[in-house]
Amino acid sequence: MPTEPALPEGRPATEVLAELRALREADAPTRGGRTFAYVYDAGLDGLDELAAEAYTTFATVNGLDPTVFPSVARLENDVVGSVAALLGAPGAQGTFTSGGTESILLAVKTARDHARSERGITAPQLLLPSTAHAAFHKAAAYLGLEPVVVPVDPVTFRADAAAMAAALTDRTALVVASAPSYAHGVIDPVAEIAATAAARGVLCHVDACIGGWILPYLRRAGRAVEPFDLSVPGVTSLSVDLHKYGYADKGASVVLHRDAALRRHQYFAHAGWPGYPVVNPTVQGTKSGGLLAQAWAVLRHVGEEGYTALAGRVGEASDRLLAGLRSMDGVRVLGDPAAGLVAFTVAGEDGVTPDLSLLLHLADEMRELGWYLQPQPSFDGLPPNLHLTLTPATVGQVGSLLDDLAVALDKARALEPVVVDPELASFAAGLDPETLGPDEVAGILAFAGLGVGAGLPRRAAPVLVLLDALPGPLKERLLAEFIGSVFRI
Ligand SMILES: Cc1ncc(COP(=O)(O)O)c(C=O)c1O
Repeated sequence: MPTEPALPEGRPATEVLAELRALREADAPTRGGRTFAYVYDAGLDGLDELAAEAYTTFATVNGLDPTVFPSVARLENDVVGSVAALLGAPGAQGTFTSGGTESILLAVKTARDHARSERGITAPQLLLPSTAHAAFHKAAAYLGLEPVVVPVDPVTFRADAAAMAAALTDRTALVVASAPSYAHGVIDPVAEIAATAAARGVLCHVDACIGGWILPYLRRAGRAVEPFDLSVPGVTSLSVDLHKYGYADKGASVVLHRDAALRRHQYFAHAGWPGYPVVNPTVQGTKSGGLLAQAWAVLRHVGEEGYTALAGRVGEASDRLLAGLRSMDGVRVLGDPAAGLVAFTVAGEDGVTPDLSLLLHLADEMRELGWYLQPQPSFDGLPPNLHLTLTPATVGQVGSLLDDLAVALDKARALEPVVVDPELASFAAGLDPETLGPDEVAGILAFAGLGVGAGLPRRAAPVLVLLDALPGPLKERLLAEFIGSVFRI
């Protein structure tokens, strides 16, 4: 019998809420346009309050069973109907999910099960451009597909449609294109990729998780956006996150399929147990109706004109930021960003070669000034860079962002470069991540500045330069152990 109680004495609601609010103080700000990853700020007064109230109204409703809670079916059909009207084609059917990762998992499951039943494929492959979101690798790992990764064009950072076509095999269950990619914000040649897939009878998913709710409105605001949705011949499914440029709270996405017959492969049904017969369209069983209700309310409140205006603001912020970055010495914007996302690299002393240490010092200096820019390491010949996700709230910040970037860059250039001890790098390169024991892992993490109990380092550059020098599987093992140490009770 445990001697300690599981919980302390109950406390008044005001005290509990005060503690929750205090916990937020160490977090990056989610409003105000200074955090350039993870958060989406429409900058609209009252939107957060609306989402919160809509959530509360449906918080206790269980979305597991629409026959008991018919309101859930009505809300979901409204939301999916809007998504289909914007991004679908006649006959399209979809599902509301908890986020991009779940939408992608479901699209990959659909393709795997479709390939098995329609084409007899028992060892399916998932064909990805190297810039496809990591969620596809997660889906492949969870669902037993072999990922086949094709390098992107090193100049445009777009998927190489010809190389993708050449990599199609009789085992390819699904081909993926991004609109746009997260890392560089560029749109893949969707029409070409989908056409070659269709010619081989292969399904094609467009990952519009981040772009799906802004690109059509950018087009409506007068910008040229190439076709990328289900209306493109050969595209058979699409994911779009409403918790990104739809500005709903986190936990809102839609996966759309060409038709109901294809969507059927997404569903899980089970009547072979003594409880209630289960039909789960998504990964979750019980789910709060709150997330669906808040997404519904935000979409209805902002409306067509509202989203068009918000997209225009993001486009304007993007134009001004790109012009400013392109005029900065040694700075290079990667590819031709479709608006919303920007990645740039900075050259070292030779004025040409991207300098990881300098970039990371720059990110640290920006953090000191109250901005969060997301470092992205080098990968397969693609340069390391800093990533910015722009939101409407950024528009008023671009001037001070560029001013601070210039100051921070001067400071970063004056700092000693971070170098990795070559002996450590070669020692680490020889380690087998599969067989590393806990003590070895703890030793390397401590060396990297991520030791258990050490807390998060104030500056990320030394840690990230070291991680960048390690082989991928070792990096993955160490990072998983590190996150495990963060969630240690
Ligand atoms: C293109 C793309 N796909 C998938 C995802 C994964 O979405 P989530 O973090 O909602 O699971 C993201 C997230 O940024 C994304 O940008």
